[in-house]
Amino acid sequence: MSIKFPEGFLWGGAVAANQLEGAYNEDGKGWSTQDVAPQGIKGPITEVPTEDNMKLVGIDFYHRYKEDVKLFAEMGFKVFRTSIAWSRIFPNGDELEPNEQGLQFYDDLFDELHKYGIEPLVTLSHYETPLHLSKQYNGWVNRDLVGFYERYARTVFTRYKNKVKYWLTFNEINSILHEPFMSGGIYTPKEQLSKQDLYQAIHHELVASALAVKIGHEINPQSQIGCMILSMPTYPLTPNPDDVIAAMKSEHMNYFFGDVHARGVYPGYMKRYFRENGIEIHMEPGDAEILKHTVDFISFSYYVSICETGDDNKRNQTEGNLFSGAANPYLKASEWGWQIDPQGLRYVLNMFHDRYQKPLFIVENGLGAKDELITGEDGVPTVNDDYRIGYLNDHLVQVGEAIEDGVDVMGYTSWGCIDLVSASTAQLSKRYGFIYVDRHDDNTGTLERYRKKSFHWYKDVIASNGESL
Ligand code: BG6
Repeated sequence: MSIKFPEGFLWGGAVAANQLEGAYNEDGKGWSTQDVAPQGIKGPITEVPTEDNMKLVGIDFYHRYKEDVKLFAEMGFKVFRTSIAWSRIFPNGDELEPNEQGLQFYDDLFDELHKYGIEPLVTLSHYETPLHLSKQYNGWVNRDLVGFYERYARTVFTRYKNKVKYWLTFNEINSILHEPFMSGGIYTPKEQLSKQDLYQAIHHELVASALAVKIGHEINPQSQIGCMILSMPTYPLTPNPDDVIAAMKSEHMNYFFGDVHARGVYPGYMKRYFRENGIEIHMEPGDAEILKHTVDFISFSYYVSICETGDDNKRNQTEGNLFSGAANPYLKASEWGWQIDPQGLRYVLNMFHDRYQKPLFIVENGLGAKDELITGEDGVPTVNDDYRIGYLNDHLVQVGEAIEDGVDVMGYTSWGCIDLVSASTAQLSKRYGFIYVDRHDDNTGTLERYRKKSFHWYKDVIASNGESL
């Protein structure tokens, strides 16, 4: 099939500040939750940043971004998704005045992108809550976070109103269900966190997200502000109606976030869940009105699909992107056990389209794999990453299928377009990039950048607007 992507389709790549910038304590930056999580989300938290934390240096993007942006431009990127590290702008999170040096860094980065005609797509909060807000306030459990986030959002919307058009409010907002510290800065260990506090924190984030949409539109009516959801299609393990209902309930837990962002009200199935679990969401006067500021588009990450069953004896648990579920016997998995399902991307695009009728943006997708650096024909180091090309090609073909189905897709930013530190395991050996970075889990490496085979493949995909797939 010849695939037709729409004119102006936003091709690009995605990263997050905490996974590549490094410079964790430079130019007035405060510590974030990531600076004390040396083993990623699964490991223990330290009191202060420790040297074994790969993110303190990342790939040194903070100092090398010009070289990297040039490589993105060489691939033909139309858009580059990154996040602002909140603690560069408000080091503790609760100050009244922002840190000018932090603001200047992003000014320079956005200018550099525009020099090559690359549009920034900016996440306000990508797993990097200022540590002070986590420790002193218990993160988003505390209503005060709404005000701090509002001040932060207003500051960056105002500062960059002529430089940034596309914004995302919270990365994978539904991941707070599983990783409350990383996703919501909640200091209470997750085993001790009550459902009441968890859903109150979620309410605060949903209000803050809607407030950001409101403020962003006031400051720049041309801006387009989206939510960002971790999508994970959940299939019934068998046609047994028990499994179908189990899958539906599991989907609801995630759809909840998109439903509020797109429709501006709490769905009935969540009210039932709250009733049955003794949860009472405390709403301030005005919250219901604020929630009506719905997003301009829905963005999401897509890596894996899972299955669900009503019978735990049939469950063969699989790994996943923060969430996990029952393994699908028809799918193969990556080296990290993430099940690979390109058609799941077509499915999820159709589901979101049918449900919301809003433009969709795939802002993360990719394969984490171990790469071997070899000497290329021209004597320059490279990686023959045919496995990555295969993964991305198969997924993009399914995006093409969804577009044929009539789904309105704005763009695609593959995850970790340059190698970076992984979120779940804090490894650099789990590589996603088109660009190899010479840094290793034992802290060795020159930080040199090399083009992988996939670099040239993606360049052709973009140049042909998808026809080369
Ligand atoms: C998403 C996150 O969950 O998946 C990214 O938004 C993360 O921050 C990506 O890096 C891939 O996960 P991992 O654990 O392989 O880095």
